[in-house]
Amino acid sequence: MSLFTNAMCGVIMSYIDQKETEVQMMTKKLKRMTGIAILAALIISTSGCQFGDGEPLFEVTTGELAYEDTEAEIEVTTEETTEATTEVTTETTEKPTEATTEATTEEITEEATEETTEEAVEDGDWCLILVNKDNPVPEDYEVKLTDLTNGNQVDSRIYPKLQEMFDDARSYGMDLFVREGYRTREDQQSIMDNRVEAYEAEGYSEEEAIEFAKQYVAEPGTSEHELGISVDINANNDVSDDDTIYTWLDENAYKYGFIKRYPENKIDITGINNEPWHYRYVGLKAAQEMKDMDLCLEEYLDYLSENE
Ligand code: DAL
Ligand code: ZN
Repeated sequence: MSLFTNAMCGVIMSYIDQKETEVQMMTKKLKRMTGIAILAALIISTSGCQFGDGEPLFEVTTGELAYEDTEAEIEVTTEETTEATTEVTTETTEKPTEATTEATTEEITEEATEETTEEAVEDGDWCLILVNKDNPVPEDYEVKLTDLTNGNQVDSRIYPKLQEMFDDARSYGMDLFVREGYRTREDQQSIMDNRVEAYEAEGYSEEEAIEFAKQYVAEPGTSEHELGISVDINANNDVSDDDTIYTWLDENAYKYGFIKRYPENKIDITGINNEPWHYRYVGLKAAQEMKDMDLCLEEYLDYLSENE
C-alpha cells in the first residue's frame, strides 16, 4: 500500500473508534438513566403510594375530612365540658358555702326552737300535694312554720319526723344539716336569678342560662320549698362526706316518711336533674310504697288514682 493509502486507513479507523466510544458512552448513559428511572418508580410504588396506617395516599388530599373530624371532636368536647360545668356549678351553688357551713353547723341545726315545737300531725292529703312545673303552689296555700335553730324553717307538721331522722343519722356518726327548708316565692326568684346570672357569667346566652337553671331550680311559684315540706340536706364536710350522707338518706329516709324527690332515673318525669340532697315529706305509707315500687311522686299519684 502506498503511504497515502496507509494514512487514509488510519484516519478512518480512528474515526470509527471515536464513534464506537461515543456509542458506548451513550449506551452507558441510557442504562444509568433507565436504572434511575426504575429505581425512582420502585421508591414511589413502595412508599409514596401508602400513607401512615395503610390508607392510600390520595386520602391525604382529603384534608377537609380530617378537618371535619377535628370539628366534630371539638363539638363533643364542648358538650362534655358544658355538662361537667353545669354539674359542678350546680353542686357548688346548691351546696353551702364554707361560711354558711360554719354558721349552720355549730349547733344541731334542725332542732326546733322551744316556742315552736309542734306535736306530730297525721299524714293525709296535705303531704301528697303535687307541685311541679305543671302544678304551681295554690294561690291560697297557707303554711305554719317551725323555726330551726340555724334560721331555716319547715312546715310544723314534718318537723317531728325530720328531727327523728336526723337523730338516727347522727347516732350512726353522720354529721348533716338542713341547708334549705321553706322558701318564700321571693327567695325562689332570687335563687333562680342568681343561677341564671352565674350561667351567663360563664358565657351562656340568657336563653341557655335559663334553660340550664331550670334543670335544678324550679320556677318561682312551682317549688316544693314554697310548701315548707321539702328540705335540702347537706353534709358537714369537716366530719362527713356527701356520698355517705346521700346514701344513708337514700336507704333510710322512707322510714321517716321522706322521699328523694328528684332521683337520677326519673329526670324525664320530674323535669329536674338528680338532686340527692332534696327530700320531700310524703308520709310513712306513701314513702314506703314509693320505695317498694320505685315510683317518683308523679308516678305514685297516677298509681293511686288508677287503684282507687
Ligand atoms: N331544686 C328544686 C327543684 C327547687 O328549686 O324547688
Ligand atoms: Zn331543694
